[in-house]
Amino acid sequence: MGKTYQIAVVNGDGIGEEIVPAGLKVAEKVAAKYNFNIETSSFPWGAGYYLKEGEFMPENGLEQLRGFDAILFGAVGLPEVDDTLPAKDYTFRVRTSFEQYVNYRPVKLFPGIQSPLRDKTEQDIDFVIIRENNEGEFVQNGKIMYPDTPNGMAIETSIFTRHGVERVAHFAFKLAQKRRKRLTNVTKSNTLIHSLLFWDTVIQEVSTQYPDVEYNKMYVDNASASFVLKPEVFDVILTTNMIGDILSDLGGAIMGSLGLGGSGNINPEKDYPSMFEPIHGSAPDIAGKNIANPIGQIWSVALMLDHLGESEAARDIENAIGKVTAKGPLTKDLKGSATTTEITDAVVKAL
Ligand code: NAI
Ligand code: MG
Repeated sequence: MGKTYQIAVVNGDGIGEEIVPAGLKVAEKVAAKYNFNIETSSFPWGAGYYLKEGEFMPENGLEQLRGFDAILFGAVGLPEVDDTLPAKDYTFRVRTSFEQYVNYRPVKLFPGIQSPLRDKTEQDIDFVIIRENNEGEFVQNGKIMYPDTPNGMAIETSIFTRHGVERVAHFAFKLAQKRRKRLTNVTKSNTLIHSLLFWDTVIQEVSTQYPDVEYNKMYVDNASASFVLKPEVFDVILTTNMIGDILSDLGGAIMGSLGLGGSGNINPEKDYPSMFEPIHGSAPDIAGKNIANPIGQIWSVALMLDHLGESEAARDIENAIGKVTAKGPLTKDLKGSATTTEITDAVVKAL
């Protein structure tokens, strides 16, 4: 008998209820094939839970997750629940408490998928966004005062620490060493002349320790245009929490659909469990119809297994996804008519 991994499963809301079970089906298939075991425990947390219990997760929720090897997550948020809560009370809470300071978001064109960038091929669209995941613009440090008066005022500060920037930069440079050895810092230090100038300075310092990696810096306005016009210039992108959030949806779009993007919230030291989730949200507009694309979630399972050390199984899943996209069927977001279940079964069959 091979190793056994304890996985905490948080479907969340909306299509999370459909695509997380899809991801687990694929996980079970590769576990059998590569002789390891997946033991799961499910936690019914999220906006639906909030409607019943008044909180996104129990007060000791983090303690409950703490002992697992990894967390497989869908997405949280429902139209009928205050949308300032899902990130604050679940996603950011887990990401920061468990020091998942790397948000690993690969962007690549799968075989057979037509990118909206009509002239770009699989060779052109193949890079990874490393988004700083614990600080920056999303620390939610601010205040609204007298909102309904002429003196209304709102302030929200970003936080960048040397320790925080250095650790994610080291991860990104090491990743670049294993890829095509090119790292682009996507920044906006020409206008955010305090926070992002400091960000640039620390990354520049770290870059001197990786002379084999070609380091360059690009402003986010130019980077957005380059995602569309010349994505082939990117190998590893290192960027801030908010810029990375925005650019990864653009990354999803150039892959052909937001529903294709997988991601990992990673604590590289493995002091805490890491959490794997698709890049998109709970998509309430298509929930409950068995039409969501499960590939982003399935790819997240591959990233999870890679993190756990089952790299061969992870590569096998990515190849199986490619086999399915190459021949079809495809879901509606990719102009097909297949269901979530059909795509999942096709991936399992390809394995
Ligand atoms: P979204 O990513 O849920 O949906 C955007 C669009 O993409 C929708 O038209 C949706 O149908 C489509 N889409 C997303 N995933 C898809 C898939 N797998 N297959 C096919 N189509 C897909 O973003 P939106 O609408 O801005 O947010 C909806 C809810 O999700 C909100 O409550 C938001 O706060 C929450 N959210 C949660 C996240 C998380 O838990 N990490 C991340 C982003 C949003
Ligand atoms: Mg996002």
